[in-house]
Amino acid sequence: MDNSAFEMHGDAPQKGLSVEKMNIISRMEKKRQWSLVSIFLLCLLACTITTAVGVLILSLVYINNSQPHSDVYFKPEAQPLQTEVPMVQTAVDPKFQFLNHLPKSKVFEFAGGAIQWARYRNNVKDYLSAEEEAFGTSLNSQRSQMTLGTLRIKSNGLRAPHWHFNANEHGYLVQGTAWIGVVDDGGEVVTTYNVTAGQVIFFPQNTLHWIKNVGNEDCFFLLFFSTHDELQTLDVDDVFFSTPEDIASRSLKPEGGIDFIRTFSKQKEDQGVNLPPNLAELVMNASYVQSPDSLVWRYFFDLKGSKEFQFPGGVIQHAQYWKNGSELNNNEKIFSEFLNQHQNALTLSTLRIYNNGLRQPHFHFNANEMGYVLSGCGKVGITSTQGAIEFNIHIGDVIFFPIGTQHYIKSTCDEDLLFILAFSTGDQLQTLDMDDYLQATADHILAQLFFKKQRKLNTMQAFLLLIAVKGSKEVTFVCTY
Ligand SMILES: *[C@@H]1O[C@H](CO)[C@@H](O)[C@H](O)[C@H]1NC(C)=O
Ligand SMILES: *[C@@H]1O[C@H](CO)[C@@H](O)[C@H](O)[C@H]1NC(C)=O
Ligand SMILES: *[C@@H]1O[C@H](CO)[C@@H](O)[C@H](O)[C@H]1NC(C)=O
Repeated sequence: MDNSAFEMHGDAPQKGLSVEKMNIISRMEKKRQWSLVSIFLLCLLACTITTAVGVLILSLVYINNSQPHSDVYFKPEAQPLQTEVPMVQTAVDPKFQFLNHLPKSKVFEFAGGAIQWARYRNNVKDYLSAEEEAFGTSLNSQRSQMTLGTLRIKSNGLRAPHWHFNANEHGYLVQGTAWIGVVDDGGEVVTTYNVTAGQVIFFPQNTLHWIKNVGNEDCFFLLFFSTHDELQTLDVDDVFFSTPEDIASRSLKPEGGIDFIRTFSKQKEDQGVNLPPNLAELVMNASYVQSPDSLVWRYFFDLKGSKEFQFPGGVIQHAQYWKNGSELNNNEKIFSEFLNQHQNALTLSTLRIYNNGLRQPHFHFNANEMGYVLSGCGKVGITSTQGAIEFNIHIGDVIFFPIGTQHYIKSTCDEDLLFILAFSTGDQLQTLDMDDYLQATADHILAQLFFKKQRKLNTMQAFLLLIAVKGSKEVTFVCTY
């Protein structure tokens, strides 16, 4: 149609203008106006489509570009457009396999004191934080034989008589004076004694024991248990109240029989660490008798008064079994032998690192190690199969070095860094220091390993030997500390 109209228009100038032609022309004018409108509309449509396509392309480009960003913050498997879960935030620093901030843990309050734990939990919901969980999991998966509790007892408070049926217990008294009772050998042997700050107590698995604060200030104990499972404990009062009255009456045979048994009533609060408000009414006089040395020193060791082992940066003391006990006094020998008779006993030690001192890289090849920072602050470095980690430590922190893990500890404060350590062995602790094992390795082996001239390594070893002698390291070799 349009084509024919153009042909006619093309002919028009050649011929005279008739009415018909005028009509035709006017019709054509109209048509031209109409086609201009249609072109305009077409352009408008095209513009709209172009804009729409442009927006679509831009948005596609935006989506494609935003994908790699989301990979940084989200797990790659996660759906990029929907998920807003920042996975990275829940990742726990690997150092928490070796470090626990004990002061942040749950405080179990009692009338007579309080208990806190660095331990494994069966139910992950029992951990307060992912960091605590990482530490507990590490203790358990490494089969550490380690659980740590702190026990605070108020003056006159009593840690109720109880026993643990899956662990030995080794305690270090940080502060105060306590009177201890241990019932051993099926009730045949009862040992009682006082313990003061700096001394160590030992309760073999399944021995009934109690701890009473007989001083005026709080007692503060660090307690190490030889289990990496949840500790299993029975308190005497709980056992009593869960025993049927007639059974209790028949086995205890009190004067009033079952009626007397019925006069006992269970307290509402857990009496784990107790301090009755009417204690003065209940206890008229108390005698804190000490058993003979031959008994006491089985369950007790004066760590503070024991032999000191100096090293260039500090001093170490041990409550442990000694293969050669010739340097121990008679009482210490009792403890050393008794410890060795028990399966899964622990060694307790104090490690003091002087201001800016270093406990050089070393590892223990027969024990896991757990430690509590009593004072000062420092830096710990660990080399395990997973690589090297370094972190800071402060008062109240608990550290864990699995067996064979090389570690060093550096004091970084103005004051001494003081540790209470436990090792998972009832045998003599076996340790290898870096200078010792480098000295023990042949020159040519080291030369080959480090790409260093053999004669240069000779001078390094001579230097190391000099330090060792100067530091009057009394015991430099394996099987010492
Ligand atoms: C203390 O108690 C014991 C019995 O537990 C009693 O034999 C002794 O006479 C009492 N001593 C005093 C001074 O009350
Ligand atoms: C234990 O300590 C208490 C309180 O300080 C004291 O009365 C008692 O005599 C001490 N016992 C021994 C055997 O030292
Ligand atoms: C035990 O140690 C002492 C002194 O440290 C030493 O004289 C003695 O030879 C040692 N005994 C054995 C059997 O190694």
